[in-house]
Amino acid sequence: MSLSLRHSCHRLRTVRCWCRLGGLLICLAAALALPALASTRKIILDTDPGSDDAMALMLALNSPELDVRAITVVPGNVTAQQGLENALRMVSLANRCDIPVAAGAQHPLFQKLITAEFWHGKNGLANVELPPSKCKVDSRYGPDLIIQMVHAAPHEITLVPVGPLTNIALAVLKDPSIVPLVKEVILMGGSISGGNVNAAAEANIYNDPEAAQIVFQAGWPLTMVGLDVGDKTLISRKQLAELGRTHGPVNDFIYLVVKYLVELSEKYGSSGSPMYDPLAVGVAIDATLVTAPAMHVDVETRGEFTRGETVANRHGFVERNVLQGDRYVIEELDPVVPNAKVCVDVQADRFLQLFVSRIQGK
Ligand code: RIB
Ligand code: CA
Repeated sequence: MSLSLRHSCHRLRTVRCWCRLGGLLICLAAALALPALASTRKIILDTDPGSDDAMALMLALNSPELDVRAITVVPGNVTAQQGLENALRMVSLANRCDIPVAAGAQHPLFQKLITAEFWHGKNGLANVELPPSKCKVDSRYGPDLIIQMVHAAPHEITLVPVGPLTNIALAVLKDPSIVPLVKEVILMGGSISGGNVNAAAEANIYNDPEAAQIVFQAGWPLTMVGLDVGDKTLISRKQLAELGRTHGPVNDFIYLVVKYLVELSEKYGSSGSPMYDPLAVGVAIDATLVTAPAMHVDVETRGEFTRGETVANRHGFVERNVLQGDRYVIEELDPVVPNAKVCVDVQADRFLQLFVSRIQGK
């Protein structure tokens, strides 16, 4: 083999070696970056803003673990129209006009809407008047936007409903094929330890029990962040003081919301305000904040005293009764298939610290 040919082969081998090394380095760099990319959870927030919804939204927008792909508005705390206006003003305040904000249902599936200005203030945002929005509403219908985004990113989207489940139910009814394509549903709603609107029912479920039953029975991975943990996670004057020491548009807005909620809770004898919706976002950020055993949950839609109750089977079976003469006897224990992870305990202080630091921009 001539010298020049041998020299060329050597150079070729050298080039190939560098390419392999270069490729290896690129792969290594990508592998190092992957955990950070992989940990970013894409979410769609379905909300009835709402003062605690406002805290949930701002937590989501200020948490690097989450990528808020869209906001869909559902009637609940306020009317659909007021909720849409509130959502648009909040994304504008946060300079996030890039996030689609879409209107959804205008009323629950079958019952009249029950709004909660009593708890959330006349405008639903603790009577805080935000500047008019710079952002424009997305023309898509909320349930359709959910369907479209789930198909566009199969197995990647987490739905985070923090209001009545009307939009989520409408999306499932319109296109059941989204159920196996949704990564997870992490919802604020329900309770296995009594209600907040009455003895049995939690507000989001109570405002559309039929929608809730559709969502709980759909068959997707579902985490229920209910009153059981929200009532253990109270924001108080301690966190208010911390938020008062820092400043910025979002910080100052949430300070006023928290001030309103803490004063309202004190008026009704509590030391703090439950972080219902923000905690659902917290679970999307870090599921280790809660303890959530699997249970089968049904939603009562007919009970005189219990319509809207989330009825959870803690033991995992149902006694099978068979008729013997003039009575029934228990023949067997029939297992029930869990359909939800039900949050029963929470690291409240750790979540509150997370919330405050994120709103402070730390
Ligand atoms: O019961 C609490 C829930 O009802 C929260 O989502 C709150 O915003 C209201 O919608
Ligand atoms: Ca809400």
